[in-house]
Amino acid sequence: MNELDSELMIGALENRGMKRVREEEDADLLLFNTCSIRDLAERKVMGKIGQLGRASKNRPLIGVTGCMANAKKERIFRKLPHVDFVLGTNNITDLNSVLDEVLETGKQTLKTDMHFEENLNYMDAVRDDPVKAFVSIIRGCDKYCTYCVVPYTRGKEVSRPPEDIESEVKKLASSGYKEITLLGQNVNSYGHDQPKWNELFHDLLYRLDKIDGIERIRFMTSHPCDITVELMEAIRDLPSLCEFVHFPIQAGSSRILRKMNRRYTLESYLEKVELFRKIVPGVSLGTDIIVGFPTETEEEFQMTYDVFKQIRYSVAFIFAYSARKGTPAYRWKDDIPEEVKNDRLHRLMDLHQEIAKEDMETFIGSPTQVLVESKNKNGQLKGRTRCWKKVIFSGTEDLIGTLQSVDITGCNHQTLLGELVKKPALQIV
Ligand code: 5AD
Ligand code: SF4
Repeated sequence: MNELDSELMIGALENRGMKRVREEEDADLLLFNTCSIRDLAERKVMGKIGQLGRASKNRPLIGVTGCMANAKKERIFRKLPHVDFVLGTNNITDLNSVLDEVLETGKQTLKTDMHFEENLNYMDAVRDDPVKAFVSIIRGCDKYCTYCVVPYTRGKEVSRPPEDIESEVKKLASSGYKEITLLGQNVNSYGHDQPKWNELFHDLLYRLDKIDGIERIRFMTSHPCDITVELMEAIRDLPSLCEFVHFPIQAGSSRILRKMNRRYTLESYLEKVELFRKIVPGVSLGTDIIVGFPTETEEEFQMTYDVFKQIRYSVAFIFAYSARKGTPAYRWKDDIPEEVKNDRLHRLMDLHQEIAKEDMETFIGSPTQVLVESKNKNGQLKGRTRCWKKVIFSGTEDLIGTLQSVDITGCNHQTLLGELVKKPALQIV
């Protein structure tokens, strides 16, 4: 979502005649589109902006956008007095007026609304990628997991009208885009805030699947308790919908899940996975996991480890718990020592690597469908399978944006290696 927001801000600035530059020294304005999800993300950006304050007199204007803007508001000016403006996640449309105000008055300006108005012009987004595009369908989150800052930085769920989404996707298709990723903090809640539309997430998928030219639809991210049978059936039945779903478990112990306010138990999660695999055999699952949540015991961590081994996620983002100010969990003692968190993190990462390697090896020896996305530094083509595995192979640049059959011949830890399946020459009989 942050990436798409950056693309929208670049578009808004280009509309006023500014040009994007790649080198910091060439910039008149530096925008930091920030993330607050973990402390490290915030510390990194604070450190970077801090250095700029010491640098020179003729420094560019500095704007802080994204979740940190909503989380810290005017405290950013107090810590970093050389920041010119702070603009929250729900105020992207105000970027140019805030910039005008700063230019006119020379005063520090802050705009951080809690509520999102669906008034963004998504066609302004300046996308670097010519093949894949992010499409926002719902913003905000009403789930209130006790560790998570997102409901406080992005606000309540607001769905985007289905007709707007459809018309954006049609435009993307006619500009040559082949893959879209539907975005939301919880895409499965789509439409619940607008009962009069009578259109839920799976209905939207049926609508978008019909659009010619879009070969693949993905979505990010899901909350397990809102994944419905209708969604599973859509994945089974709609040709463009990829068989890879991010299904974040966060923890394997029902006690920890309750403390996290995740609204499911280990048992109900496993039942859903079983049903999913029955409806869509071979569906590939991804997850997010937090280790070292307050009071997590070694036995409880072991439950997370065991469930990972049982489900064999193909993609996993594993994090050490980071206490976030303003969340319910912040009031509890962050009682798991950093060494223990790190140890759990690495044990789980090792298991993930092992499983990912075994999973990759099952692809060797057969052809797989790849959407060719780009050329890498070594001049090889790079693309992904429907289940999101990266594939590298030799071929010519004109294949970018096409679907190809690639024989998988090997793999290294994160990537499948292959050879283009040669199409038979036309036979004249
Ligand atoms: N500490 C660690 N990880 C977190 N996440 C969200 N909040 C925190 C936190 N306070 C992780 C969750 C979420 C992902 C985007 O980031 O796993 O799914
Ligand atoms: Fe955060 Fe996701 Fe929970 Fe929403 S559902 S509070 S974004 S972890």
